[in-house]
Amino acid sequence: PSDVGIVGMYLVVPSTYVDQTELESFDGVSTGKYTVGLGQLKMGFCTDREDINSLCLTALSRLVDSTGISYADIGRLEVGTETIVDKSKSVKTVLMQLFEESGNFDVEGIDTTNACYGGTAAFTNALSWVESSAWDGRYAVVLAADIAIYAKGNARPTGGAGAVAMLIGPNAPLVIERGLRSTFMRHAYDFYKPDLASEYPVVDGKLSIKCYLSALDECYRLYCAKARLVSNLTGDDSNDAVGINSFDAMIFHAPYGKLVQKSLARMVLNDFVSTPDERIVEIYPGLEKFIGVRLEDTYFDRAVEKSFLDFSLGLYKKKTEPSLLISRLVGNMYTCSLYGGLVSYLISKPVEDIAGQRIGMFSYGSGLASTMFSIKVVGGDKLNQLTSSLRYVHSLLESRKKVSPLEFSQIMEIREKNHHRASYSPVGDIGWLFPNTWYLKEVDESYRRTYDIV
Ligand code: ACO
Repeated sequence: PSDVGIVGMYLVVPSTYVDQTELESFDGVSTGKYTVGLGQLKMGFCTDREDINSLCLTALSRLVDSTGISYADIGRLEVGTETIVDKSKSVKTVLMQLFEESGNFDVEGIDTTNACYGGTAAFTNALSWVESSAWDGRYAVVLAADIAIYAKGNARPTGGAGAVAMLIGPNAPLVIERGLRSTFMRHAYDFYKPDLASEYPVVDGKLSIKCYLSALDECYRLYCAKARLVSNLTGDDSNDAVGINSFDAMIFHAPYGKLVQKSLARMVLNDFVSTPDERIVEIYPGLEKFIGVRLEDTYFDRAVEKSFLDFSLGLYKKKTEPSLLISRLVGNMYTCSLYGGLVSYLISKPVEDIAGQRIGMFSYGSGLASTMFSIKVVGGDKLNQLTSSLRYVHSLLESRKKVSPLEFSQIMEIREKNHHRASYSPVGDIGWLFPNTWYLKEVDESYRRTYDIV
């Protein structure tokens, strides 16, 4: 099959959020720390009525409804998540409830986990299946979903929650470019979840930022090398100067907005470092003083950071800021953060502006695993359908319920206390949920979870 990629998408966010300005004053930090310093405006969260299974049930059922396919049309279903409620039973098997009526039990794929990277691992698995000899002509579906919550303290404002479901198949409007995928993986303890009794991670915030930026450097360097190779092989010299201008849009895994802006600036720094000295003045006027700078010395170099943030501001506004819409209003959605960025970008402008574009994607998961790849957007009916099916997102974000920081904090305590309790009857108000949302009805004495839909 050719032109394999994303055919349909659906995004689910929690119906409740806490305002970051209110959270600043509730937490007693300086005004602007979360809103300006981190670049976050609102943070979505779930009560004890939602867990990873219910989020995925909602996202999958909505994707099937919105694309008009049947459950029998799905031959592979992959779930990427780091929100673990069971060490053995996968979310995928829970989702098989939705297939019962169709009689389709012939569905490959299972869960994949590594911090925020699981969604991308699930995504590349789905692409591989469609491109393989095992493909039987049906669609693959990728579900990336998480509930991202942190213990009280400086990481708490970088939480979030959400789910993105994607329909993968041939002749797609969002084609994943072949031969242009670069990966960087290495061992690090920057963010991990060793305490299986807790929903909270152990985080070394500063190390996680350094790991993220170094992974970006490595993926981008390798992506550029592969892009040069592909253009040499095809005799296409338009890609000769591979760099930030090869992308019409650049989307990143988004723990918080400020890190994403720094990441775009970091890619420009990478371009700068690989530019011959004699061309610096012409291409990077005012940045000559940084000639000879080494990437590995600059993760926390204020002068370099500020200069490249200033220099890349125009590029950021054009290529990256539109992708931060959902992230700013919902927070870090972990495995689906990058794909939420794609949804944000797709609904940010008229479809004719997006047709023909190349979109760069950078996925990062702590621990660490990272990949850069690119999407070629093909204009036409399928693209129109995909983008118009996502227009609901604006009003969805608007219609959420604001909850005070105090109540949010109490709800987090309820989750903390009851995480992995059996039997358990959730207390969260079902009336707060959006229509057609799956929710956790009950956990019985054998830890079996049952769900219902509002
Ligand atoms: N007005 C404006 N800016 C402010 C203010 C203020 N009143 N106060 C602080 N700031 C700025 C700081 O200068 C800083 O800017 P900088 O990043 O450019 O240096 C920024 O706000 C954050 O302030 P810090 O003091 O650095 O914040 P802190 O150390 O308390 O926490 C952190 C930030 C480390 C990101 C924390 O929230 C965290 O650990 N989050 C989880 C880990 C994470 O998201 N890592 C990212 C990659 S891995 C992943 O996706 C999980």
